Amino acid sequence: MKHLIDLDDFSIQELDQIVHKAVEIEAHPEAYYGKLSGKILGTLFYEPSTRTQMSFQTAMLKLGGQIIGFDNPQTSSVSKGENLKDTVKVISNYADVIAIRHPSEGAAKAASLVAECPIINAGDGGHLHPTQTLTDLVTLMHEKGHLDHLTIGLCGDLKFGRTVHSLIKAMIHYPGNKFILISTKELTIPDYMKKIILNSNCEYEEISTLEEALPKLDVLYMTRIQRERFESKEEYLKQKDVYRLDTQKMRLAPEDLCILHPLPRVDEIEIAVDDDPRAVYFKQANHGVYARMSLILHILEQNTQTSIKGEIYPEKICSNSRCITQSETYLKRYFYRDKDGVMCCSYCDAHE
Ligand code: NCD
Repeated sequence: MKHLIDLDDFSIQELDQIVHKAVEIEAHPEAYYGKLSGKILGTLFYEPSTRTQMSFQTAMLKLGGQIIGFDNPQTSSVSKGENLKDTVKVISNYADVIAIRHPSEGAAKAASLVAECPIINAGDGGHLHPTQTLTDLVTLMHEKGHLDHLTIGLCGDLKFGRTVHSLIKAMIHYPGNKFILISTKELTIPDYMKKIILNSNCEYEEISTLEEALPKLDVLYMTRIQRERFESKEEYLKQKDVYRLDTQKMRLAPEDLCILHPLPRVDEIEIAVDDDPRAVYFKQANHGVYARMSLILHILEQNTQTSIKGEIYPEKICSNSRCITQSETYLKRYFYRDKDGVMCCSYCDAHE
């Protein structure tokens, strides 16, 4: 049983294979209709979603499979106090594959430890969002034709932006990529992510304005300031209007810039920018269906095992207040050491 919790669960060859297959499926979707007839996808969404959930559902329906699940935990037994383990244990016997989204970091990993079917991480708190990254890679293949030697600006909520973390973790595997990190100091990327870039062959630069960054970019990845991840409304309000891409700023951007955004957009991109051919975020959302078709086909063909890194330290407690181990206290406390010997939680990757 193969899970997709983090894109590291795949080799770079596997990742390339999934991306290329998605491009092929999009060119000839009819060749894949009915391929998963009789199979069931479960979507367990403990957090709001439009595109991720519906693109998973569309992907499964196009493949001829069926779907079950919830998009509001308040209408499921979660509202009666059921823990993650019990829900996943039961639904993973009903479904052949589960896509799970949860506000706690490491929740998908926790689900994979008890599941009877493969688990796909559809976003775990501010941690990771590997299927959005597959969508992003497929979009870059369509738009740029390659995934290497790109200067990628990432703008907005780099601290809690799980799409940003997953994208960087994938793009460091392709040679010559450079990251330009555009954020306020409050929303800068976590140190462990900087370490990941430094340990790769890629570089990064931190820039505080879009005006300065834009002329240098091949790709601009805009993100929403995520109100739900802030401790207080005041902190959110201080951040929410700092970055706004508008038609005026677009004059500073190269002709072949490619603007991505995982969506939903709030105010960070002016609506008039949508008419600029460099804005590809709606096309990106469409590619997401084919990326997920390719992923589901791949996952259901595998019989290799995904394992949890590290060892059990029964007395140790993860330092991250957003980690799934804080609420699901029955979880075994797994920790691993990173390349520098620092102890990290095996669920949410928080460093000591
Ligand atoms: C993103 C997410 O949920 O992390 N959206 C998505 O999945 N397409 C980004 C966001 O919510 O801002």
